[in-house]
Amino acid sequence: MDGAGGGGWCLALDAVAKTFGGLRAVDGVSLQVRPGERRAIIGPNGAGKTTLFNLISGELPVTSGRVLLFGQDITALPSFRRTALGMGRTYQITNLFPQLTVRENVVLALLGTHSRKFVMHRPVGGDRDLVEQAHHLLHGVGLRDKGDVTLTRLSYGEQRQVELLLALASKPTMLLLDEPTAGLSPAERRGLAASVRGLDTSITVLLIEHDMDVAFEVAERVSVLHLGRVLAEGTPEEIRADPQVQQIYLGTAH
Ligand SMILES: Nc1ncnc2c1ncn2[C@@H]1O[C@H](COP(=O)(O)OP(=O)(O)OP(=O)(O)O)[C@@H](O)[C@H]1O
Ligand SMILES: [Mg+2]
Repeated sequence: MDGAGGGGWCLALDAVAKTFGGLRAVDGVSLQVRPGERRAIIGPNGAGKTTLFNLISGELPVTSGRVLLFGQDITALPSFRRTALGMGRTYQITNLFPQLTVRENVVLALLGTHSRKFVMHRPVGGDRDLVEQAHHLLHGVGLRDKGDVTLTRLSYGEQRQVELLLALASKPTMLLLDEPTAGLSPAERRGLAASVRGLDTSITVLLIEHDMDVAFEVAERVSVLHLGRVLAEGTPEEIRADPQVQQIYLGTAH
């Protein structure tokens, strides 16, 4: 694909590949995601979905191919540089401050990204502007009643919501979500799907999702990965109707 960054794409992948020894985990993936799009990546276990995310975020170097963010070739950039360019992904809840409240964690995440001076002797939450931003974020993902609760007292589902919340605190223009609904109850899945769907369209979302209902509900377009390659791409309706996809991926569900 020539001129992969042209056409105003948020993200463009140009024949991206990753081999582990003899295994071609990601085998020449090209795709383009337009700004503001919600794109789901689905595919069977071991299809290469998480590896592809790690290549996009820079956690792993590519074996070959190019990654472009808003036309800029970021293939050689380390992950922290990609974060600075607006690429966000969910935090591991274990890296947070479990004894602090949800709001305090959000304020700390906001402080971390605003490159303000972190004044250690000031109580967390003493800055009105930051507290207001935290309040706004809490409302956006349905945690409005949980601001004063410490992380250790949250349910698993609520902790996943907090992960999303903290990823948003870095004000990403592109958000990568790897199975955000894994381990959640059906009601919690619906809540998280609603949160993702309700995100501002200034944020482009790339979502790996095993739950078909969530993937088809949230995404405008779906890419199906199989054996490290894009097997199909289209609207949820097109993907549902694709006989190859049904055979290889949805077969067990029909
Ligand atoms: N660091 C690694 N070293 C060696 N092989 C790896 C590594 N990471 C992934 N693999 C292999 O690459 C293939 C793709 O794995 P990957 O985790 O990307 O799949 P996935 O689509 O995310 O699967 P799942 O749906 O189970 O999360 C698998 O065969 C996996 O065993
Ligand atoms: Mg995975």
